[in-house]
Amino acid sequence: MRALTYTENGGPEVLHVAAVPEPHAGPGRIRVKVAAAGVNPIDWKIIGGFMPGSEAPTQATVPGFDAAGVVDEVGDGVAGVAVGDDVFGLGTGTQAELAVLTAWAPKPASLDWSVAAAAPSALETSERVLRLVGAQPGQILFVAGGAGGVGAVLVQLAVARGLTVVASAGADNQGYLTEIRAIPVLYGDGLVERVRAAAPGGVDVVVDVAGKTPAADLFALAPSHDKVISIANFDLAAEGGLVTGGNPAEQHPVEALAEGVDLLRENKIVIKVQTFPLDRAAEAYATSLSGHVRGKLVLLP
Ligand SMILES: NC(=O)c1ccc[n+]([C@@H]2O[C@H](COP(=O)([O-])OP(=O)(O)OC[C@H]3O[C@@H](n4cnc5c(N)ncnc54)[C@H](OP(=O)(O)O)[C@@H]3O)[C@@H](O)[C@H]2O)c1
Repeated sequence: MRALTYTENGGPEVLHVAAVPEPHAGPGRIRVKVAAAGVNPIDWKIIGGFMPGSEAPTQATVPGFDAAGVVDEVGDGVAGVAVGDDVFGLGTGTQAELAVLTAWAPKPASLDWSVAAAAPSALETSERVLRLVGAQPGQILFVAGGAGGVGAVLVQLAVARGLTVVASAGADNQGYLTEIRAIPVLYGDGLVERVRAAAPGGVDVVVDVAGKTPAADLFALAPSHDKVISIANFDLAAEGGLVTGGNPAEQHPVEALAEGVDLLRENKIVIKVQTFPLDRAAEAYATSLSGHVRGKLVLLP
């Protein structure tokens, strides 16, 4: 099958479309014919060798964790899904013609393939941070970095659950934050004052998505340090903030996808996507590396 591959650590220049052996669905998994595959910052962090264990690949490796596609193999022990079903979900090596998924949900017929492929990691991460930080309906949430792949889904999931959301982004994304029903604020100097002006009664919970907001600002906005959680600045833990990363015990992907299906179908979560054919994956990766993505980047194999 055709797949995006890399054989050495590096930037977008090490990515090549090549023929690789097909994967197969093992027990508890399904294989899909991929219609669209999401790109996440974790992909270039792994390809770059920046994550533990990601140094020096020993063979051609296919990146990607998000996909939407048509089921073409069902592993032993899997129930409730059949060959020919349209699904979206999480797996490995998804930026290819065929990929194996470990968690999935039915794709609503009205949902574009590329939007479905943009959703899984962002939904899983958003569900996780809101649960771990104890966010409740009626509360005020501040999201540091609300316009990117995770941020935009987090904002909309929180609004759908009955929270009021203040979110930061750069000047170009203030209108986008309004579209997704956040109260927009600019990041940078003066952030704390701008958030307090937007939420005069105070903020109940803070989620740092982009990892670029000073810790002092995040803690100044929250009622206590354990009401601040980050997915990108792990230094916050030393000061009593919460952090969450790749610990599978914290992840509830099936539940997150199930909640997301209804919200995506009802347009309560709308994801702006920019699509690239697989042959132009290096451009998508370069855009992700810029750190200023609006919504999500998606590859079409
Ligand atoms: N720990 C986990 O489980 C987990 C899971 C998923 C993702 N992550 C990590 O979380 C981070 C964000 O992921 P993503 O997929 O949302 O990235 P993304 O799609 O690339 O979005 C990045 C966003 O950061 C915003 N941003 C840039 N500088 C900022 C600043 N100073 N203050 C606030 N926002 C700023 C950008 O907004 P502007 O364009 O307006 O500047 C952009 O919308 C990445 O580091 C990723 O690896 C961690």
